[in-house]
Amino acid sequence: MKKWYAVIGDPISHSLSPFMHDYWFEKHGIDASYIPVHVEPKQLEQALHSMKLLGNSGFNITLPHKQAAIPLLNELDETARIMNAVNTVVAKNGRLKGFNTDGDGFVRSLLSYPVDKDGALLVIGAGGAARGISFALSRAGFSNITITNRTFRRAQELAEEIDSKAIVLTEAESNLSEFNTIVQTTSVGLTEEALPLSLTHLGSGSVVADIIYNPLETPFLKESKARGCLVLNGVGMFVNQGAIAFEKWTGIRPDTEGMIKLITEKLG
Ligand code: ATR
Repeated sequence: MKKWYAVIGDPISHSLSPFMHDYWFEKHGIDASYIPVHVEPKQLEQALHSMKLLGNSGFNITLPHKQAAIPLLNELDETARIMNAVNTVVAKNGRLKGFNTDGDGFVRSLLSYPVDKDGALLVIGAGGAARGISFALSRAGFSNITITNRTFRRAQELAEEIDSKAIVLTEAESNLSEFNTIVQTTSVGLTEEALPLSLTHLGSGSVVADIIYNPLETPFLKESKARGCLVLNGVGMFVNQGAIAFEKWTGIRPDTEGMIKLITEKLG
């Protein structure tokens, strides 16, 4: 029987996930379709119940439901528990299990670049995204992580959890040249021409990553590139979080490099 997968969110029409998963299903000869479903917060419980009734095999969850869905699931994987947010659900035998593939998606994307796991790595931000990414980096063997954040207390709390260190923004700014890898996880640059911190002291040899993918080049990446750094936008993270979900559903590891090119063209 034809399987069906979905992404639920509010809004949902802008989502690139249907394009990506349908492309992979077709490429791998899997008889399945992936549909965007507009679900408002008040409909979330009913929507998840319907997934079970209607024989859904798996779905992605996007804003604003990533947290609210947690108590409505039957089981939660460690990755979702750590982030307190779910972006991927596997549906099997009438049960829903939640995962979060964002952190590991980011790490896979970063590892396609020449990064040194023992080099000094700076995470900018201490919110939900930073949390998932920091735990995933730590699990992947990055051994020298420093967290900085506008609200220092949150950086301290996160650093303590992953046994790393926290520094205030001004200290990060003046010591930027010491970091081999810099990871920008805040929403700064998404809608405004602003930087999360000053890049005056950025050296030229660092790898600089931003998790934002629309715009493809945030002011943060533009300036880092101008200063001679190797830059990585959030398309790789988006594609890899989807690839990990696809693997959970089908057991197949899809091509990510080709998909990164396609998504970049779409957003360009
Ligand atoms: P997400 O789940 O996307 O990470 P979040 O949990 O609300 O969202 O976290 C947002 C992150 O972006 C936080 O690190 C936040 O800093 P604070 O902890 O100080 O709020 C950071 N952030 C948001 N707007 C910012 C701004 N204008 N300047 C600097 N940091 C900002």
